[in-house]
Amino acid sequence: MARRLPDILKIEWPQGEAVPPPRTLEAIDRAAEILRGGGLVAIPTETVYGLAADALDEDAVAAIFRAKGRPASNPLIVHVADVATARSLSSAWPTAAERIVEALWPGPVTIVVPRARAVPDMVAAGGPTVALRCPALPLTRFLLERTGRPLAAPSANRSEAVSPTTAHHVLDSLGQHVDLILDAGPCLHGIESTVIDCTTDPPSILRPGPLTRGQLAAVMGGAVVDAPGIVHGIARGPGMAVRHYAPRTRLEMPADPPARVAELLRQGLRVGWLTLAAAAPVTRELAKAAELVVVPADVDPQGFARALYATLHALDRRGLDRIVVDPPPDDDRWRAVRDRLARAAGASEG
Ligand code: TXA
Ligand code: MG
Repeated sequence: MARRLPDILKIEWPQGEAVPPPRTLEAIDRAAEILRGGGLVAIPTETVYGLAADALDEDAVAAIFRAKGRPASNPLIVHVADVATARSLSSAWPTAAERIVEALWPGPVTIVVPRARAVPDMVAAGGPTVALRCPALPLTRFLLERTGRPLAAPSANRSEAVSPTTAHHVLDSLGQHVDLILDAGPCLHGIESTVIDCTTDPPSILRPGPLTRGQLAAVMGGAVVDAPGIVHGIARGPGMAVRHYAPRTRLEMPADPPARVAELLRQGLRVGWLTLAAAAPVTRELAKAAELVVVPADVDPQGFARALYATLHALDRRGLDRIVVDPPPDDDRWRAVRDRLARAAGASEG
C-alpha cells in the first residue's frame, strides 16, 4: 500500500451542529474516496482507532491483514451506518441481535450473526458468521454514509500490540502502511467494543467491553453468558488468543503490588507502576534506589479504561524494565479492563 507517511487530517464537529464544518467535510470526503478506491484509512471511533477498508473489496481487506501482520484466522468487525445495512450483511437476524441493536446501537457493542454471501470469506476468516457494529461517534457514521460501503475495521495497530486511542498511536504503529489518518482526538471509551455472539442461546460474550454484561442482560431481559472457552476472563475462541493488547515492556498484575514493586526496585530494575492507591506506599530509599515512575490511575472504571492504552503507550516509550499494575476490583464494571490487563500480563509471561 502506501509508502510514505500518511497525512493526518484533523477533524472537528462541534456538538449540536447538523453538518460538519467545511474542512472536516473535505477531509471526510477525501477519506471516502480513498476507501472507495480500495485504500486504507485510519478512522476514529468512540472505542479505539480503526484501520478501515471497504469490507466488500477482497483486495482492500487483504491489505488490512498485511498492514497489521494479522493472522488470516482472526476475523474482522464490519462497521455499518445503520441497522438496515447490518441486516443486509446477515443471513439470519436472531431475536438477541434485534434487541441489542434496538437498545444499544449506535454504540460500543458488536454483534456476531450468521453471515450473508455478500461478505467476503476473508472478512469472516472463512467462518459462517460476521461481526457487525454501528459506531456511536457521529463522525464515523457520517464517513460510513459518505463512503456508501460497509467498512471492515480492526483496531489500527500491529497485530497483538496495544490498540491506538490517538492518531499518533496509529502513526507510530502502522506508519507508512496507511493512506490517510483522520484525527478526532482521543477516543471516549479507550478500549474495544463488547463483542456478543447472538447465534448462541443465550447470547454469549466473546470480548468484554464498555457495555457490561449487566447492561446487556438488562436489554435481553434474561441471561447473557460468557462464551465457552473464556477462562479467568480470557476467551480462547477465534482471534481471542491470550496474547493480545500487550505493551513491549513486560507487564505484571501482582497480588501485592507495593511488595512486588519494592522487590523489583531492589533488583535494580526500572519500574512503571500504574496504581489505584491514593498514595503509593514506596519508601524514599526505594524511590531513590532506581527509577520508579508512579502513574496514579483513575479509580472509576470508565476513566481507567479511557486512559489505559495511552498510559501503556507512554510507559513503553520510556524503555522501562517492567510495568506493574494494581489489580482492579473483581466486578462487572471492571471486567473489560481486567480482561485487557490479564491479556497484557499473560502475553508478557514466558
Ligand atoms: O471497538 C472495536 O471493536 C474496534 C473499533 C475499531 O471498532 N475494533 C476492533 O477490532 O477491536 P479488532 O479486529 O481489533 O477486534 C475484533 C474482535 C476480534 O477479537 C475478533 O476475533 C472478533 O472481534 N470477531 C470478529 N469477527 C468475528 C466473528 N465472526 N466471530 C467471532 N468473533 C469475531
Ligand atoms: Mg485489535
